[in-house]
Amino acid sequence: MCGIVGVTGRADAQSVLVEGLRRLEYRGYDSAGVCVAGPDGALATERAAGKVAALSDKLGARGGLAGLSGIAHTRWATHGAAEERNAHPHRAGRVALVHNGIIENHGALKAELMAEGRVFVSDTDSEVVAHLFDAALDQHADPHDAWRAVIDRLKGAFALAAVSETAPGLVFGARKAAPLLAALGPGTGYIASDAMALPEDAATLIYLEDGDTVVVGAGSADVRDAQGRPAQRKQAAGPGVFGRVDKGPFRHFMEKEIHEQPEVVGRTIAAYVHLADGAVNLPAKVDFAAMNRLLIVACGTAAYAGMVARYWFESLAGLPTEVDIASEFRYRDPAFSPGDAALFISQSGETADPLEALRLCKAAGLVTIALTNTAHSTMAREADIVLPTLAGPEIGVASTKAFTCQLSALAALAIAAGAQRGRMDAQAVKGAIADLSAAPRLMGEALSLRQGVDALALDLARSDIVLFLGRNSLFPLALEGALKLKEISYIHAEGYPAGELKHGPIALIEEGVAVIVLAPMDALFDKTRSSIEQVRARGARVIAVADAAAAVALEDQSALTLVTPDAGRLATPLVMAVAVQLIAYLTAVHKGTDVDQPRNLAKSVTVE
Ligand code: AGP
Repeated sequence: MCGIVGVTGRADAQSVLVEGLRRLEYRGYDSAGVCVAGPDGALATERAAGKVAALSDKLGARGGLAGLSGIAHTRWATHGAAEERNAHPHRAGRVALVHNGIIENHGALKAELMAEGRVFVSDTDSEVVAHLFDAALDQHADPHDAWRAVIDRLKGAFALAAVSETAPGLVFGARKAAPLLAALGPGTGYIASDAMALPEDAATLIYLEDGDTVVVGAGSADVRDAQGRPAQRKQAAGPGVFGRVDKGPFRHFMEKEIHEQPEVVGRTIAAYVHLADGAVNLPAKVDFAAMNRLLIVACGTAAYAGMVARYWFESLAGLPTEVDIASEFRYRDPAFSPGDAALFISQSGETADPLEALRLCKAAGLVTIALTNTAHSTMAREADIVLPTLAGPEIGVASTKAFTCQLSALAALAIAAGAQRGRMDAQAVKGAIADLSAAPRLMGEALSLRQGVDALALDLARSDIVLFLGRNSLFPLALEGALKLKEISYIHAEGYPAGELKHGPIALIEEGVAVIVLAPMDALFDKTRSSIEQVRARGARVIAVADAAAAVALEDQSALTLVTPDAGRLATPLVMAVAVQLIAYLTAVHKGTDVDQPRNLAKSVTVE
């Protein structure tokens, strides 16, 4: 939700902090700020509403902030409007502090502090922690003791970083159910929400655990656990020259990531199957034969990938499969049965609701499997089994390549389940792998739909509502197409099962309403065609996304047909995903919205 960076031991502290914010901006971009401890130890702060660029401009105008250590933050507003006065860092006496998450007991703490005469200038919960730390420094000789005492009083999910004029050169960090890691370089120390914010010299990553506090100095890190005891934590090599993630020749990260799909989907498939001998070769052992039921839990686009996979797990493997939105699952008191297993899908591996759902399942004794694009994420560290998607860093807030990499991994898992459960013989496995393995090439061909989509997108950009229809494994694709369109173009869009129209949604159809129908020539094509006839009869402007045979059958039925390359049943959702992504992307470009960082959104929803 928000991005945090801390640094010490760097003469260019400000520029390291601002560059770190740029790389974390996908996490939230309502406002940004930095605080640097000057050579005399005095803290100097600059903040700006809007994006990191606005902060850079203000820093430039004042000649920058000199110093060796500091903290920085890019915000996605939870408490308090997205205005400068609510921007982080928050100051309180000798302290500056940044925060990601929610302090649930901030009201009571604020009342206590106000009774002690402390004055608050923002509407945020975070400012309370700054005052608590400033007060605690007077009660503890050791600044880490003071910091620990503060953290022990907080309830909620949070990642924090702070500096104090009483502790020059030290950066304080804490994490509880929100991502934060520490890192060390030669004579330097760092704290960050995500390793990708770190500079090249951050050679050693230190993975903090929930409840930990850390005090980072120039080349040193003192970690304490929730009980205040010194703790040794898992370490890993730093990101190095971490994928200098940039847009390359593309206009937006989302456009670049749509075009990266053939490559990264191919890479993911290769991590799950032996293409040469057409056999499944999972990156981790998963015993599908022992499962009586598979519970898939995720949010947003990741949940739609799970919904597609349900069709595959049940039809290929006969494995009863349910898909839950994580924020519903964790509170519905699910009725678990022996032999249940839970699969969590998350690009970031830090989304709050699937993480809590994972903990619920783990406590109930289920095998927990994480399918994630972020190898060192909290979800990857807590699940029993970790399965990767190899999409690479996905910066665009709207998920594209991560989604199709999820689909490709899930398809391989469904094939593995079919083989393990005796539902697919070697021939069937080979055929399914051939189907899936064609996806990268076919997705590459689908990218050429762009020309046809561009004209359509100009038209769609003027729409007030757009419906997406699909059947079977393309119904979740209809949901995904609607989500893509609404989240980056702000046009109201809905996805429905095509067969559901007559149960109410058809009332939305009137002259000119755009209806996008995912219509491959499959066993259900005739039923999809009748859905098209129903909406056309009421004036809808039908855009069909269809393979060649279906396009011919629909030539007098649709105002426009986007012809996708012929694909098997596993590759079809991946190929059609490219079409719906291009529709959303080009419509948003025509609308002039902020494609990579749409309003109100953040890439990783680490709070409820
Ligand atoms: C995707 O376009 C959305 N931005 C959003 O729904 C996202 O898929 C969801 O927040 C889940 O994120 P995760 O995969 O990192 O858990």
